Amino acid sequence: LKILVLHGPNLNLLGQREPGIYGTTTLATIDALLTQEATLVGAEVTTLQSNHEGILVDGIHNALGQCHGLVINAGAYTHTSVALRDAIAAVNLPTVEVHLSNLYKREPFRHHSHIAPVALGQISGFGADSYVLGLHALVRYLRAQPD
Ligand code: DQA
Repeated sequence: LKILVLHGPNLNLLGQREPGIYGTTTLATIDALLTQEATLVGAEVTTLQSNHEGILVDGIHNALGQCHGLVINAGAYTHTSVALRDAIAAVNLPTVEVHLSNLYKREPFRHHSHIAPVALGQISGFGADSYVLGLHALVRYLRAQPD
């Protein structure tokens, strides 16, 4: 199983960015953790971080025919991007939405996600573990599908 993990804007600064909210784990550490977890369940992870909406859209398009599913932390684009939502709907790949912080404990503008209606589900609030849980949720979903 091939999984594409997408990280949106400002997530390149994890570790130094608002550590009280997002923790001190760096993106490189999260990617390494995901690669390791994927190996344990016989899956393969590719990661893409971008601060640019269109590059994330291109990444989702390029996953078509290459990957079986997506894990996405769209960062602030979660709350603004119809384009990312439409890209996920267009490729129609099973997608798990993840967030480090619990969106629903935070400002009201973070309570709405454009991604949620096109995702299998959302995992929010477990720090770096949100990605690991999201990966496992996706792999379990994919394995439960008939061939
Ligand atoms: C985030 C939550 C978003 O509201 C925020 O804009 C981010 C990170 C999270 O992982 O908690 O950049 O997606």
